[in-house]
Formats: sequence, structure tokens, C-alpha cells
Amino acid sequence: DAQQLGQLPPMGWNSWNKFHCDINEELIRETADAMVSSGLKAAGYQYVNIDDCWAEQNRTADGKLEANHTRFPSGIKALADYVHERGLKLGIYTSAGTLTCQKTMPGGLDHEDVDAQTFADWGVDYLKYDNCNNQSRPAIERYTKMGEAIKKTGRPILYALCEWGQNQPWLWGKDAGAQLWRTTSDISDSWSSMTGILDKQVPLAGYSGPGGWNDPDMLEVGNGKMTTTEYQAHFALWALMNAPLLAGNDLRSMSDTTKKILENKDIVALDQDWAGKQGYKLRDDGDTEVWTKPMSDGSAAVVLFNRGLTAAPMSATTTELGLGKARDYRVRDLWTGTETETTGTLRASVPSHGAAVFRVWPAKFPNAAPLSTLTVQAPDF
Ligand code: DGJ
Repeated sequence: DAQQLGQLPPMGWNSWNKFHCDINEELIRETADAMVSSGLKAAGYQYVNIDDCWAEQNRTADGKLEANHTRFPSGIKALADYVHERGLKLGIYTSAGTLTCQKTMPGGLDHEDVDAQTFADWGVDYLKYDNCNNQSRPAIERYTKMGEAIKKTGRPILYALCEWGQNQPWLWGKDAGAQLWRTTSDISDSWSSMTGILDKQVPLAGYSGPGGWNDPDMLEVGNGKMTTTEYQAHFALWALMNAPLLAGNDLRSMSDTTKKILENKDIVALDQDWAGKQGYKLRDDGDTEVWTKPMSDGSAAVVLFNRGLTAAPMSATTTELGLGKARDYRVRDLWTGTETETTGTLRASVPSHGAAVFRVWPAKFPNAAPLSTLTVQAPDF
């Protein structure tokens, strides 16, 4: 319900990264089907989000947006029904400007009330509100207007600011009525884009939490221009930062490797931890970095991230992770599921451009499983 909106970072899919303007209603229906059949829905993915280029170039005589007649002949309401029948939610897009970024359809500027009501009438559950063609009008004003328009409809529509971090939306996004705000310009399917965006998140960790999340942009996992190791790092770091997990690949044809990354339950659980504390960079040793995130059950998530060109031996101590004193610590490798114990230091050989991901529990912590049930390996840590 409305109160719960944005209590956790949203999970789902968005059409932009893979399809750009090449979208139609079959794609959306097939993506909803694939979200269910692939297991993504069971893993927590829920929103099916249509990005730019879905509408007719002009408004109707009564000033409303209308789905593109050729590519979305059944209309958005029918699509929302289709998605809802599968237990999923539908997201849509427009821009806080006169036109959207691709200029193929009108934006919502000065049409906030009518557009928000149209989306609500159609049964839309999520609005991404972009920043193109904004006529240089003040961002806070433009985004607050749509936030208020959404509120007036009475429908719980998750409101995602796509203002690219230009006016520090992490300071006013919540007041504008939003549950998430983009922090940067667009991601692309490359290592340099992904790491460049990651670097910009470092000072923002304190501004994200239940009800209002930093959004480092959608996932590129499975789009083909990064290696599997790089996609694993991308996914793990995005989860550690409580990013919205919006897959940006073709769900209808994804490989098992891609599926395994997106559906990794232990890593999704980092993103979806109810405490919503964004992970942060704990230590920077040049090419290697230790990132951590405090979890609500008293454990810590750890990402050992290697930007270097060769594998690196890396380590982190339970003390620096802030775990406090315990006799032993239970350590789960979240890529392999393997559990071990350590008395205080985690070690891993991390591949080039890779991320080892662990969750560490003080063994005496009440919620931890009894030690006797664990597979205990002689730590080569
Ligand atoms: C800019 C946004 O940042 C992207 O995510 C995407 O929505 C495009 N605009 C669409 O034109």
C-alpha cells in the first residue's frame, strides 16, 4: 500500500538499456511472462517499466497522453491489466520538460495533474520522471509538482526522479514526494561507465534509506559488453548500495549465467535488507577496495573489489568491519554459497575486475545458525 511505497529499493526491469526506442506491447507482455517463467519474479523482481518513446507525438484533443497507435495498439491500461494478472506491476515514463529526451512524445511539464491522473486511471504503479527539455526551470519546482500530482490521484505510484544528480536530489527528493532519485547521468554497458558511476556514489551513502533511495541507474547485466566477472561485480556493488535492481537486458533470451547473477538470493537479500543502510567504501588501496554494508541482523556484507588487471589476494578483518568481538565468525561466500569459519580475517583471491562477496556473522549472535550445522573448512584465509 501507499505507506509501504519505497520501503525497500524497487526491483524489476526497464526497457531502455537494451531496447531504447525499439519497444512495443509484445515486448512488454513477453517480458512480463519471462519475468515469471525465468524465476526473476520469485527472486523478488516485480516492476515491468516502459521507458521513453511509448506515446503518440501529440496529446489528444482533451490534452491527454495516448499510447503510440502502431506499437501499443491495445493501450497502456490493457498492458497494466496483463502485467497485474501475473502478479507484477507496470511502470511508465515521461520527462519534466516539454518533450521527453528522445523528443518522440510530450513531457509532463505544466501537464502534471492530467498526466498523473491518466497514469493512475490506467493502473500504472511506477513513474520515472526524466529531465530533458526542462526549459531551464528550477528542478525542485518541476519535480515537486509531479510529486504532488501523483499524491492527489490517491494511487500508490512509486515516483522515481531522473534528474541525473544535477541539483543534489538526495537533499530534496523525499520532500518532492519521490522514493528514488538518480545520482548521475546514464550508465552504459562498459566497465568504465559502471565504475565511474560507482565512484560518484561514495559520498552519497548517508542520504539513502527506507522511503528514499539513491539510484545509480539501471543494471547492464547480460547486455554483452562486459565480462561475466564484471557483471558480477556490477550486480554485487549495486546490491550493496541498496540500488533499485532494475534489470536492463532482454529477459526473454537471457543466458543461465545472467539469470544466476540476477537471481542470486543472498546478494538480492543485501539490497532488500529492511534496515536499508547503504553499503559504503571502507578501505581504498588503489586497485583494490573493501566495501561493506551493515545488515539488520547484526551481520556485515563485504565486497572485496579488484579493479586491477591481475588477480589480487585481498583481506578484511572483522574488527574493521565493525563486527565486535566473538569467538568465531561464520562466513558465507555469496557467489558459491560455501560457508566457513574464521577467527577474524577474511581472505580471498579476487579475479581482475571481480568482486568477492561475503556475509559475516559473529557466531555467537542469536540469529546465527548453530555452529554444528555449518560446513567448516580449514580456513585458507
Ligand atoms: C535519459 C535517462 O537518464 C535514461 O535513463 C533514459 O530514460 C533516457 N533518457 C530515455 O530517453
